[in-house]
Amino acid sequence: MAEIRRAAVIGTGTMGPGMGAVLARTGIETVLYDVSAEALERAKAGVQMAEGVLDRLEAPTEDGGSVRFETELAAALDGAELVVEAVPEKLELKHEIFPQFEQHVAEDAILASNTSGIPITKIAAVCQHPERVVGMHWSNPPHLIPMIEVIPGEQTDQRVVDKACELVRRFGYHPVVEKEVPGFVENRILYAILRECLDLVDRGIIDPEGMDLNVRWGIGYKLAVIGPMELLDMAGLDIYNAVGSYLNQDLSTSGEVSKTIRDRIAEGKLGMKTGSGIYDYTPEQIDQLRGQRAAKLVAVRKALEA
Ligand SMILES: NC(=O)c1ccc[n+]([C@@H]2O[C@H](COP(=O)([O-])OP(=O)(O)OC[C@H]3O[C@@H](n4cnc5c(N)ncnc54)[C@H](O)[C@@H]3O)[C@@H](O)[C@H]2O)c1
Repeated sequence: MAEIRRAAVIGTGTMGPGMGAVLARTGIETVLYDVSAEALERAKAGVQMAEGVLDRLEAPTEDGGSVRFETELAAALDGAELVVEAVPEKLELKHEIFPQFEQHVAEDAILASNTSGIPITKIAAVCQHPERVVGMHWSNPPHLIPMIEVIPGEQTDQRVVDKACELVRRFGYHPVVEKEVPGFVENRILYAILRECLDLVDRGIIDPEGMDLNVRWGIGYKLAVIGPMELLDMAGLDIYNAVGSYLNQDLSTSGEVSKTIRDRIAEGKLGMKTGSGIYDYTPEQIDQLRGQRAAKLVAVRKALEA
């Protein structure tokens, strides 16, 4: 299979613009499409912002890359060798658009979904060529987090998986191939951590500020350098066995979402987007936090890649 030169990103909400900027930077002619003209307009600023971050990361720029915005699906898909789908997380919607992709692209084009956890086999079930459908789960923000989960469905061709991995490497990112499992691996780990964090907050063992300090400067900082499997070797498997044999029995196994979260939702506190969630935010603080966090993520990534 030849190297991908043209791609279409379908859906330009939170994820699409950053993904488009990364693809273009890799030398790919990239077209962005959204059903909403407003979203597509907003995506122009989103792509610019992501390009600025890529500049700060000093990400290499390959020749031939470009970004174009299209309001017609057929025009967006014309000549695309890769389609990256990033529409909302609803199976019905993915089922509606994947057959549309197949009407407009060549038979060997790759159809990748950025789904956060819908099984790829289910998405591909409505396709004439399910063997070219693959999961490519980018992490948010996609122009900053250099790891992409690559998930084959039951019928995905191994060559499609290899091609997706090769492309991820072209970005300078790390592809991680996984079998289908609800939530995929990254979100399973995140949700396991969040369940325990929220259980401890619910029980009054620690307050939210203490929790954030503990995790950021404890396991957070460490895990960015030493992976969990490496950490086991560093600590000693006998130590993990001794601690795990009593501690595992005490950890939360609740199948319910935490009371803290349910109560806040009932009060209309949904997080930064409503100005209040676990913490309260003014619009100025939100802008400041976004800037600070992007700058720190750039600095940390540069340090880790050095
Ligand atoms: N937001 C995240 O942190 C994140 C992280 C990883 C994966 N994902 C996954 O990526 C996908 C997109 O997530 P998001 O957060 O960017 O969603 P979003 O809601 O921010 O954006 C989705 C965009 O798709 C557009 N859209 C809706 N129907 C469409 C159609 N038929 N054709 C073209 N565009 C259409 C919407 O107008 C919207 O602009 C989801 O599957 C989500 O689970 C999201």
